[in-house]
Amino acid sequence: MSIHVAFTPLGLVPADVAGRTVVVVDVLRATTSMVTALYHRARAVIVAADSDDATRLAQALDRRELLLAGERHCVKIPGFDLGNSPLEMTAERVGGKSLVMTTTNGTRALLATTGAHEVLVAAGVNLSAVGIRIADALATGRDVVILCAGRENGFGMDDAYLAGRLVVASMGGRRSRKGLNDSAIVSVDLVRRYGDRIDRALALSMAGRELVRLGFGQDLAAAAAVDSCPIVPTYQDRRVTLPVEHA
Ligand code: MLT
Repeated sequence: MSIHVAFTPLGLVPADVAGRTVVVVDVLRATTSMVTALYHRARAVIVAADSDDATRLAQALDRRELLLAGERHCVKIPGFDLGNSPLEMTAERVGGKSLVMTTTNGTRALLATTGAHEVLVAAGVNLSAVGIRIADALATGRDVVILCAGRENGFGMDDAYLAGRLVVASMGGRRSRKGLNDSAIVSVDLVRRYGDRIDRALALSMAGRELVRLGFGQDLAAAAAVDSCPIVPTYQDRRVTLPVEHA
């Protein structure tokens, strides 16, 4: 049994995820927004590669039940209903609707998971719930890959810290490094550095600093609200949804 962390989807090949439980993390902000939207009773988040793809997918659906969501350079795409802020994902705005969503890094990471046994969508807001699911997967002998969306095909400290928190949560107090790849060990070391101060890790990351610069500082607080949305959405066939028992 192993837990491998990938700091970016760049270079990931189908063999890396085949048959594994894959956990996708884009804590600032795509997976935080997706989990929050589903927690507030959105029906599904349909994942689009870019804005043209989103518009095309939306054309096949009833526009009254649909919201176009997404960002480029962190800012709402012109003509879309929503950006990529978890604070926009209120029950009033997203309840009962499907979102078609495209973001710079997060949706790209989800699209890179083809061939996985299952794909879980993780953020700080559902940290413990996902940690339990990772532990369950390991207990059944299934290998786990935590796939960080990262930043423009590179390392993002925000996601790496969250990956470390997931590794620690799933190990249930065990300290052995057996089965962890080097990226997983480094992620756990980041948790040693910042402890449970997710707010610090997010605020110091480049993604966090950029969001603050653009006036989205409140989104960091929303992303740091650990376990505020205790659900585990899954991704399959371009759709992020909740299992029926939660819906
Ligand atoms: C992404 O997918 O690249 C991010 O979620 C960007 C953002 O924070 O809007």
